[in-house]
Amino acid sequence: MASESERTKRVAVVTGGAAGIGQAYALRLARDGHTVAVADLGPADETEKLIHEAGGKVFSTRCDVSDADSVAGFAAAVNERFGHADILVHNAGIYPMVPFDKTDWATWRRIMDVNLDSLFHLTKAFLPGMQQQGWGRIVVMASATFHSGSPHMVAYTASKGGVIGFVRTLAAEVGEHGVTVNAIAPGLVRTPGTISGPQQEMGLFEALPNMQAIKRTGAPEDLAGAMSFLTSDDAAYMTGQTLVVDGGFARA
Ligand SMILES: NC(=O)c1ccc[n+]([C@@H]2O[C@H](COP(=O)([O-])OP(=O)(O)OC[C@H]3O[C@@H](n4cnc5c(N)ncnc54)[C@H](O)[C@@H]3O)[C@@H](O)[C@H]2O)c1
Repeated sequence: MASESERTKRVAVVTGGAAGIGQAYALRLARDGHTVAVADLGPADETEKLIHEAGGKVFSTRCDVSDADSVAGFAAAVNERFGHADILVHNAGIYPMVPFDKTDWATWRRIMDVNLDSLFHLTKAFLPGMQQQGWGRIVVMASATFHSGSPHMVAYTASKGGVIGFVRTLAAEVGEHGVTVNAIAPGLVRTPGTISGPQQEMGLFEALPNMQAIKRTGAPEDLAGAMSFLTSDDAAYMTGQTLVVDGGFARA
């Protein structure tokens, strides 16, 4: 098992770490002792401030995860600073709610680009370093909509289904190199994205908790423990899985 000093040497990449769940993940990874590299479309100043206040180490840069060149630039910056990344938490994602008959090709493509194609670019960039080190953790955000089949989210749910398929299959190829690949599937979480989206108007913050075992809407911090576990040494024997964290909505 790695000692505490070895743990502190780990480098963790978080995408979409400027806000919401990604910000909670970045802060938790820093508190776990890792150096955190945040990639986001927007500035991650607030995340940097929170991590510095917690005594952690952070580097952030603008990056569009749907763009292969942008991801390559981010990976080059990470590798130049730290040599490689040990942990990849791919959290950036978009979730427009549009009925299928109103979903045009551009919307479908954008959702696939940001939620799924990005996983190809990021894994290509960071997996080789993990394999070389013989240790790596990849955690990707899926969604409980994959199980619930919520309406108006066909493209989104298809993209997250792609994530689940990716995780299951890549796990089988990289386990022998000490790399685990897992997904987290949250239910509704209160974040800047959901607060400003149609979820509020549709009354989902009131309706969904009533159907859950735990009768409140999730907060980003509710997911941080699951992510922390999946990126730890303790999770060395768990791979190819999708961990559902939804307040007990789905109880399979
Ligand atoms: N909030 C929920 O209820 C919920 C539920 C299930 C799954 N998820 C998944 O969790 C993840 C985070 O969701 P959230 O609610 O915190 O989102 P959010 O919209 O609150 O924050 C997302 C962050 O990702 C960044 N981002 C968006 N597109 C990007 C791109 N192309 N490149 C780089 N950064 C980009 C944004 O700038 C923002 O900082 C997403 O993958 C989402 O699908 C969220």
